[in-house]
Amino acid sequence: MSETAQASAAPTSIQSEIARRRTFAIISHPDAGKTTLTERILRAGGAIQLAGNVRAKGERRRTKSDWMGIERDRGISVVTSVMTFEYGDCVFNLLDTPGHEDFSEDTYRTLTAVDCAIMVIDAAKGIEARTRKLFEICRLRDIPIVTFINKMDREAQDSFALLDEIASTLALDTSPATWPVGRAAQFVGTYDIRTRELHGPAKELPQSDPRMVALSEELELVEAALPPFDREAFDAGHLTPVFFGSAMKEIGVTDLLDALVAYGPAPRAQPSESREVKADEGQVTALIFKIQANMDPNHRDRMAFARVCSGRLTRGMRLRHVRTGKQFALHTPQFFFARDRQLAEEAFGGDVVGIPNHGTLRIGDTLSESEDLRFTGVPHFAPEILRRVRLDDAMKAKKLRQALVELAEEGVVQLFRPQDGLPPIVGVVGTLQLDVLQSRLKGEYGVSIGFESTPFTMARWITGDRAKVEAFAMTNRSSMADDLDGDPVFLSSSAFMMRRTVEMNPDLAFHDIKQIG
Ligand code: G4P
Repeated sequence: MSETAQASAAPTSIQSEIARRRTFAIISHPDAGKTTLTERILRAGGAIQLAGNVRAKGERRRTKSDWMGIERDRGISVVTSVMTFEYGDCVFNLLDTPGHEDFSEDTYRTLTAVDCAIMVIDAAKGIEARTRKLFEICRLRDIPIVTFINKMDREAQDSFALLDEIASTLALDTSPATWPVGRAAQFVGTYDIRTRELHGPAKELPQSDPRMVALSEELELVEAALPPFDREAFDAGHLTPVFFGSAMKEIGVTDLLDALVAYGPAPRAQPSESREVKADEGQVTALIFKIQANMDPNHRDRMAFARVCSGRLTRGMRLRHVRTGKQFALHTPQFFFARDRQLAEEAFGGDVVGIPNHGTLRIGDTLSESEDLRFTGVPHFAPEILRRVRLDDAMKAKKLRQALVELAEEGVVQLFRPQDGLPPIVGVVGTLQLDVLQSRLKGEYGVSIGFESTPFTMARWITGDRAKVEAFAMTNRSSMADDLDGDPVFLSSSAFMMRRTVEMNPDLAFHDIKQIG
């Protein structure tokens, strides 16, 4: 069936359901206010009654061991990778991204599953390092960005200067959607530039109030200097609407949500190996972008998070697990809310559902109702930290092998099995991943391990003519490994060695990114 035929075969109700989905993440530098904003958003959406603790705060300030404790606590905390709530006739799926940069691969994968990101900026600090990095990831996929300039209730940089900074450091056009009324302790609300309405306590201010006088002067400048909102440029990720507010004081939060309701974006088409899959196509497709274990320590469960990419998914449906070719029955797909989860009787393109499973589903897998397609865009990055796993108790070798496979499937680390038969090597982007691996092996599998250095600092996936790849592997046996999928990887001790190897093997391709799926 052609793409258009599939789209038109979908009943209109599916299309209108999909059109009201909003799937997004919040990106920010630590301390800019992501947690506080998340709480306020969930509260505005009725997902939590009181703006209480969504999760333990101050994660990054804690010592490593405290952090591990937090990870363990997560099983019983209200945090999940996704929180679904309704607001203004839209269904929102808010995807959580890990705060620590050692887990940036996880963040990257999560960002492949969103249609939009809210970039939170601290009004006093402006664009900070991690914001910029996360923004660049969004830009790779042209993800539309909505900007929230937070902490306007404190001393802040000049608003025009902040807009300039966004434009110049991120090469992103800015269009203020609201403007702050008053500053610091005098900040009382926002003025909506499109509707020309005041929001929050600012509504009560007399025109003679100095803040109102300042506002009208500033608005003249805004109109003269800054472009109006352009939907197309926003959808393409070239222009960001900017909102001012204070998450803590709950000012400007609903401005943000109202904007997402008004201009979306609705679920985007997702790239697959063969074609783009539009969200409102009739057949169900879904992409696994994250696996999370131990969400409920009493059950030792393992949840695969799937973005429904198209169609209407219903509970009990059987989908094709494209990597293995087997049928996969969706007995208990689940929606997550701030404090609980519920069976998902139906979900639509754009939604994110949790699928409990015991290792069948892996990151990057596609589930499909009929067509044999594979979604792309969920990558593995070549790790630069490579460590050999040293087992303390040799009797547990088999258990370790199984555990490493399970944890690698979850994306905790990447696993490389050396072709020379030496103990396995794990690869990570940040060392905190190693601590998580060690602690989970001990806690969940009862296996104590240590790490030993390896001579390797680089890994590259090799592709090319099969016989040539095998011949290369034969002559480089002690530098060769197989990854989780059995794909060949060349490990090198230095960038110089890697360059030389690449030059000497022009028939082979060496990749630092592997698309999974
Ligand atoms: P993060 O998740 O981005 O790391 O930031 P988080 O929300 O934890 O906020 C970091 C700090 O900034 C917190 O203070 C929080 O209360 C404060 N904050 C967040 N939004 C605003 C705001 O709009 N205005 C002001 N003035 N402060 C804000 P903390 O002292 O680290 O924690 P806490 O003692 O307040 O819990």
